[in-house]
Amino acid sequence: MATSRMAPQLHPVLLSRMEEARARTDALFELLPPNAFYERPIHERHRLIFYLGHLEAFDWNLLSGPLELSSHHAELDKLFAFGIDPVGGGLPTDAPGDWPSIAGVEKYKQQVRERLDECLYGPRALAGETLLHVAIEHRLMHAETIAYLLHNLPATKKIPQGVLSADLCPSPEQRQVVIPAGIAALGQRRNVPESFGWDNEFDETHIDVPDFSIGMFPVTNAEFLKFVHAGGYVNAFYWKPGDWEWRQRAQLEHPHFWSRRSNTPATDPDTQWDYRAMFGVIPLPPSWPVYVSHAEASAFARWAGKKLPSEAQWHRAAYGTAEGTERQYPWGNSAPEATHGNFHYTRWDATAVDSHPAGASAFGVMDLLGNAWEWTSTLFAPFPGFEPFPFYRGYSADFFDGKHFVMKGGSPRTDACMLRRSFRNWFQPHYPYVYATFRCVEE
Ligand SMILES: [Fe+2]
Repeated sequence: MATSRMAPQLHPVLLSRMEEARARTDALFELLPPNAFYERPIHERHRLIFYLGHLEAFDWNLLSGPLELSSHHAELDKLFAFGIDPVGGGLPTDAPGDWPSIAGVEKYKQQVRERLDECLYGPRALAGETLLHVAIEHRLMHAETIAYLLHNLPATKKIPQGVLSADLCPSPEQRQVVIPAGIAALGQRRNVPESFGWDNEFDETHIDVPDFSIGMFPVTNAEFLKFVHAGGYVNAFYWKPGDWEWRQRAQLEHPHFWSRRSNTPATDPDTQWDYRAMFGVIPLPPSWPVYVSHAEASAFARWAGKKLPSEAQWHRAAYGTAEGTERQYPWGNSAPEATHGNFHYTRWDATAVDSHPAGASAFGVMDLLGNAWEWTSTLFAPFPGFEPFPFYRGYSADFFDGKHFVMKGGSPRTDACMLRRSFRNWFQPHYPYVYATFRCVEE
């Protein structure tokens, strides 16, 4: 931290949140022994060393201009500027030797923090607080995406946390919950004091939603296993053509997070399944939400004779009430707490979908925030009145390409600040690494 601090010009809460966010991402890199930094746990993404530099380069590239700071290492500002979105592109081909040393990146990180903090805590404050919100939430989003990466690193290349234990609780009985017709108020209003939203959360948009029913719980591993046994992965009928092509190419026979204990076919009911948890392998937990890609979720829904919910349907099931009003959170208007769901870094893995009854919505739909993001059938697109952030024009607009689907909810590694009602996440349909599940609707 800089020594030349003066009275804070920015909101002190925001500055302490920035410090907490830095501690959060620093702790992730402390899980890595030095020989793991140059690993690439997901083929389509950068090596881990990139993310160590990226968080600081992003903050620098965002804040140094408004703070009128000149660069001390322009080459690294550029090298660490952007990640990779793997839609349709080839795989990266860089070698470990193409990247700077860990010590070099750590030095860059410290220099960036010191120089930014001299201003953030000093007399040359930023005009407005939006940029600092952006830096904080960008970093916290990466606290989750880095967790996906680490999840795919062999257990021997990360320092274990806690005790690895099996969870063989049976899956609760799934039921369809009827949601009466009503209005879903997506997004948020502009210019509400002290509130922040990314560009894609504006403007507030009201959608009429006819009545429908939705799964009380997200689809669990036990439920999804029935689809696997029924030949769901070998029957093209259930898959959209592009999804089927991807399944064929990837030779997918089961969710990415599962592994087979024997060489028996996936469709064999006697096949024993394991689950790749963050720090090792455990028997497949029947009651946890299944983590799958949008393509697999869609195929399951078709097999079940149902559909994925639209963004508006999901929103209505989560936040609507019989009186026609909306809640801030599914459980009401009080701030998120650990009893409401599995979020905000409490756990590295999922829990049973029925383990947080205090988080149920007004209609009795369970496990909406936390445990897993939930796929919707809605393509990521702007709400009416959308305007890109002038300082980050491509943040959302680059993904309004008809190739990304909206996800709602939140995972075990989602920060509580991003559980706000208007927050939208999005991913392409053939990316099986995210903590994402789904539930089915009938119309
Ligand atoms: Fe980023």
